[in-house]
Amino acid sequence: MLTEACTYVIFGATGNLSRVKLMPALYHLEVENLLPEGSKILALGRREWDRAKWISEVHDMISEKARGGLNEEVFARFSERLFYHRGDIGDAKNYTGMADILLKQEGFPANIAFYLAIAPEDFSPVIKQLSEVNLLNEEAGWRRIVIEKPFGYDLESAQVLQKQISRYLKEEQVYRIDHYLGKGTVQNVLVFRFANVMLEPLWNRNYIDHIQITHSEDLGIGSRAQYYDNAGAMRDMLQSHLLQLLTLVAMEPPVSMEAEALRDEKVKVLKSIRPIPKKAVHAHAFRAQYTNGVINGKTVKSYLQEDNVPSDSVTETYAAMKLYIDNWRWRGVPFYLRTGKRMAKGQSVISICFRHPPLQFFRDTQVQSMTQNWILLGIQPEECIRIEMTVKEPGLEMCTRTSSLDASFRNENESHIDAYEDLLLDVIIGDRSLFLRFDEVEYAWRIVDPILQAWAVERDYITTYPAGSWGPRESRRLFDKETQDWRHSLDPECP
Ligand code: BG6
Repeated sequence: MLTEACTYVIFGATGNLSRVKLMPALYHLEVENLLPEGSKILALGRREWDRAKWISEVHDMISEKARGGLNEEVFARFSERLFYHRGDIGDAKNYTGMADILLKQEGFPANIAFYLAIAPEDFSPVIKQLSEVNLLNEEAGWRRIVIEKPFGYDLESAQVLQKQISRYLKEEQVYRIDHYLGKGTVQNVLVFRFANVMLEPLWNRNYIDHIQITHSEDLGIGSRAQYYDNAGAMRDMLQSHLLQLLTLVAMEPPVSMEAEALRDEKVKVLKSIRPIPKKAVHAHAFRAQYTNGVINGKTVKSYLQEDNVPSDSVTETYAAMKLYIDNWRWRGVPFYLRTGKRMAKGQSVISICFRHPPLQFFRDTQVQSMTQNWILLGIQPEECIRIEMTVKEPGLEMCTRTSSLDASFRNENESHIDAYEDLLLDVIIGDRSLFLRFDEVEYAWRIVDPILQAWAVERDYITTYPAGSWGPRESRRLFDKETQDWRHSLDPECP
């Protein structure tokens, strides 16, 4: 599947994302022989390093992350692709210097992907500068820009940013990453739904009671207060990753896996979500913040005690919301989404709860109530697809229990691939199906904007939950029925 050679230019190459994700992902593509021959990687950083120093830094970054340990022979091959350019992203000279290297020096392929691993407020100025030195002009080869979320801070700022960057770029040149779409099990949602014929007849309001999408973390905010305190859980996870998961679960079968077909269907789901009026925000959304507590036997501090968090912050570290999709398939089925930091356990799961079967048949038996069937799509740490069925317990009496059918996702000899490997490769192949189109981002903001606006003015109080718990019980008020509750575990015995 080798494609044309290209140059990857990494802005913010010495930062955390590059260390932990990007450089290890590019190395793993080298291991798999997936980097086209002649491709180069130009790192851009502020530090006074030379090429040799950069290569030794990359060696350290990768040593920690390489699957099965670092292979020195592969690294030697990889290091031939590595170059370092010192420069400040605010300095015009930096861009003329970079253009000299990329356009005039021998050996740098004319196809260029710019990965902007930098603060979002720098996206637009950097793109402008790149355009001014003619680096976004596609006459000699393709030019692509890769940007990470957050794309904007709310609907209005996202539209402003889009307007600014579209002066210099065509939509086909923009690769908006949502790294959740690069996760293997997330892509498996599509295969599970559209490659297994017995599911489609059940995948609708006639059989499904409700759907939950949970992403919980036992970690706190670490050293990210500066970003996180302005963002909060709703912007950080719900508006982006969890709404993306929702679109994959809920969308109609696209005509093909081709980017536009897939994204058209995702946008249709987002457009069909019933808008939340401001006066109904409390019935649809819940926020909370962690206090101190115990995680894995260790006492951890509260959000307000984390470094650089203002002592009166009401930023949410837990957010939950209920959505309805007003289309033929989903009308009346609630989708409950939640996320939280410092929760009891770190996991991401999509849990689909089916309706109760009628009990008539069991009228004269000991079966008083029956558990509902669930389908659980475990995204992490456990990657699994489970279907829970009710079976008869062995014995003379008519008693039932839940048994689960497990469709294993990975065989023992198959290793875990990081989402960034897939996404970085898609950029050079030019496959945009796992990247967000601007209208997806825009409609996602439209959904959460009323909630964010209501919360922005409620500055004097936020519910709290102890670190290490499953969040506040009060969030149960989002549920439509008494019988509905958060599903915390993949285990049917203690859901
Ligand atoms: C990021 C958020 O986008 O996703 C983080 O900014 C969050 O706050 C992370 O921890 C979760 O990603 P993953 O891949 O670890 O589940």
